[in-house]
Order: sequence, then C-alpha cells, then structure tokens
Amino acid sequence: MSNETNTTYSIINGQSHQSTAMLDVRNPVDNALIARVSEVDEHAAERAIKCANNCFIELKSTTAQARGDTLFRWYQLILQNKKRLAELVTREQGKPLKEALAEVMYAAGYVKWFSQEAERTNGAVIPAQTIHHQLRTLKQGIGVVVGITPWNFPLAMITRKVAPAYAAGCSFILKPSELTPLSAIELAKLALEAGFEPGAFQILITSKPQDLVTQLNSHPSVRKLTFTGSTAVGKLLLEQTARSVMRTSLELGGNAPFIVFESADLEAALEGLMMAKFRNAGQTCIAANRVYLHSAIKSQFIEMLKSRLQTLVIGDGLGENVDLGPLINSAAKQKALSLLDDACKHGANIVYQGESQTGNYLSPVILENVEPAMAIYNTEIFAPIVSVIEFQTEEQVVNMANDVDVGLAAYVYSSNIDLLHRVSMVLDFAMIGINEGAISNPAAPFGGMKQSGLGREGGAEGIDEYLEVKYLCQRF
Ligand code: SIN
Repeated sequence: MSNETNTTYSIINGQSHQSTAMLDVRNPVDNALIARVSEVDEHAAERAIKCANNCFIELKSTTAQARGDTLFRWYQLILQNKKRLAELVTREQGKPLKEALAEVMYAAGYVKWFSQEAERTNGAVIPAQTIHHQLRTLKQGIGVVVGITPWNFPLAMITRKVAPAYAAGCSFILKPSELTPLSAIELAKLALEAGFEPGAFQILITSKPQDLVTQLNSHPSVRKLTFTGSTAVGKLLLEQTARSVMRTSLELGGNAPFIVFESADLEAALEGLMMAKFRNAGQTCIAANRVYLHSAIKSQFIEMLKSRLQTLVIGDGLGENVDLGPLINSAAKQKALSLLDDACKHGANIVYQGESQTGNYLSPVILENVEPAMAIYNTEIFAPIVSVIEFQTEEQVVNMANDVDVGLAAYVYSSNIDLLHRVSMVLDFAMIGINEGAISNPAAPFGGMKQSGLGREGGAEGIDEYLEVKYLCQRF
C-alpha cells in the first residue's frame, strides 16, 4: 500500500478532517501498521457538534419515507461493497473472512430493518373526556446522538445504532474504537454516497477517548448517548450523562450460561456451543462464558468437544478455511492467560489445549472443575476458553446461572419442551437461545437485564431509543 492509501481521516460535515495528530491502526495478526488515521481535537469536536445540531434541524423537514429510502440505498451500497468491507474487518479486527462476511450481512440487516421501521413510528389518538378535546401523541427524533462502539464488531455495532437514529430523524456523532476505526470510516463514506446529509453521520477518531467523550457528554446540544462496551465503562458514562439527564442506552457485558441438560441432543448442543463460544474467538458479549454440563453427559460431551476443537484451523483470517483468528491484541491475550492461571491455581484443570499460542493467537482451551469463587466464573473471558461446571439438578443449575450481577444472554439445550419452557421463564437473562447458539438478529431486541445495560437495540423496540413522545392536547 502507498503512503497515500495508508492514510485515512476522521469525517466532519461530510469532509475528511486533516490533522497533524495521527492514530496508528495495526493488524492483530502481526501488529503490522495497516493505516494511519487523522485524530480530532476539542475544536474539531465542537465543529462536529455544531454541524450535527444544524443537521438535526434540517432533518426535521425530511419525511420518514425519504429517510427510509436513503437508508435502503445505504443497505444496497453495503452489499455492493461486501467483499471489500469484510477484508477490512478481518485486517483490522482479526476475525476469519467468513465471519467478517457474516458480519457485513448482519450489519446490513440492521440498515434494511430500520429503513422499513422509519415509516412505523406511529403516534396515537387517545379518547378524551370531553367532546371539545382531542388528545394525540406523536414521535419525534430526540436530537444529536453520540455513539461509542467497540472493536469486536466494527460494522454491526455501528449500523445497529446509526440506522435507527437516522430513521428517527436524529444526527449522529460516532466515536468508534481506536483499534478498529477503518471499517467505521468506510461505512460513513457509503452513507454519504447513499444520500445522508453531511452532518448526519460524522466520525471522530481519537487516541484520548476520555477527553473527547467527556466533552461530548457534557455538551448542551447532545441529547442522547448510546454505548456498547464493558459494564465498568458503562457505569462511568452513566454518571456523566446523569449530570445533564441525557437519554442513555447501554449494551454492556454479559456472563452467559450455556446449559446442557441430560436430555439434550448432544450434536446440536455441540454445534450451538461452537457458535456461542468460538464466534470471533470468544470475543463477544453474548459468548458462552459458563458451560454447565449435566453430570450424566459431561464426559461424553467433553470428548465430543475435544474432537471438534482438533479440527479447527487457526491463523490469519484472510487465509483459506481459517476458523479462528488472533485475539485483538497482546493485552487481551494476557488477560485470558491470567484468568486461566488463576483458575488452575484455585483447583480447575485444563483437559484440552491446542498448540498454536504465538503472538496474539490463543488456541482453544477446555477447563474443568470451574467454581463460582474463581475470577474466570465472574469475568467476561473474551477468549476461546470453555469453562465447564458440572450440575445435577434443574433447580441447582438455574440458581447458579442466575447468581451473577449481569443478565445478557443465556443458552439452554434439552429435548424436554416442558423443561425448556420452565427454565426460560426463570432465567434472569434478556436473550435466551433455546436449542440454538446463534441468537443475534436485526429483527429481535438485543440488550440486557441487571448490569448488562439499559434499553434495547434492533427489533421493533430499537427505534424507540431515538424518539421522544410528544403529547398534544387540543381544545376545539
Ligand atoms: C457484542 O458482542 O457486543 C454483540 C454481539 C452480537 O450482536 O451478536
């Protein structure tokens, strides 16, 4: 790549933002420099907020149908650029190309979904107590939205926020992860090509996220924050936005139980676990974090899992047939290894470990005899480590699964439909895979209970996060 193509830019008011401060973007495979991106300072951020505010006023005179049409053009452009976007995701994030292609389709799915939802932001006419009154509600875009997105899904976590915001008539300022800004910039360029107004989707890149985010969260023109990331950071952001009573939605950490009952179809459970644990090398907030196996099937299931793990191809995601790429960086690998080490010191034992452990790669591990007191039980592992806990009864496993302070996703496998229904009703998790390990879907509400977050993204609910309900009381 030439120097010219290696340099890319934050986007303010539809234009590339030139700056002397540049951020390095590296490939997780070998830490090679793949691009340099212009950073924003506080003056540039102030300009972006002003543009977003003017754009919000401009969007008030567009129709929901017109915004839906623009979103649909964006959807088509994403599909037309599918291969290029997927390669970029693999290069800056590390996931295998087949998963990156699936992410492009997933990301595009949110844009398509909200291109249609734009036209369904209906209000209501409420029966009044007198014949001289009419009571109505209508829904309007909330205003300038700030989004903060993570590195694990550099496309889908953005479209899941920007598409409903635009459908609702809001302008959007995005601070993507500094580890994966390139996919975000390409998405914004395609949105502009599709007809987004210049201030409707701006990208601010920085290596000092705290300063930028504090500036955005304390600005009177910003009306909403939407964040996907860790529970710890989400709590800090909520403290900031509480000061101006800013609408806030948070999609935070999980600690998903994956429960396999004695009556489960073990082949199906294995397929589900491969998806729920090994997608993106375990770096998802809905990853199976605690694998509960009934004592009657535990040994058999572990043997099946071992055989399956031996077939996985580990390597650079751009390579052919690769199943598992590297972790995002050395800090991520270090964190996973210290969780493993701590668990082993406290009585867990490794029953399987693959060979390739160089650089940012971490081969799959199966860890047995994991206990609730261990750090690995209570932390999002974010790595391909299967943490196994044995159980005997339905009541015992439900109590253990629920006994954490987060509640994002859970998975249950059984062929007993009464048991599946009973367990699904009592699990304190907002999304439940029932004999299914792949639950993410633009048409369904994504979000968490307890400390896993506030609000829902996607589905019929996703657009409400960007709308105000206005009540009109008219006297005749
Ligand atoms: C996440 O890990 O934050 C999102 C995963 C998904 O949408 O499937």
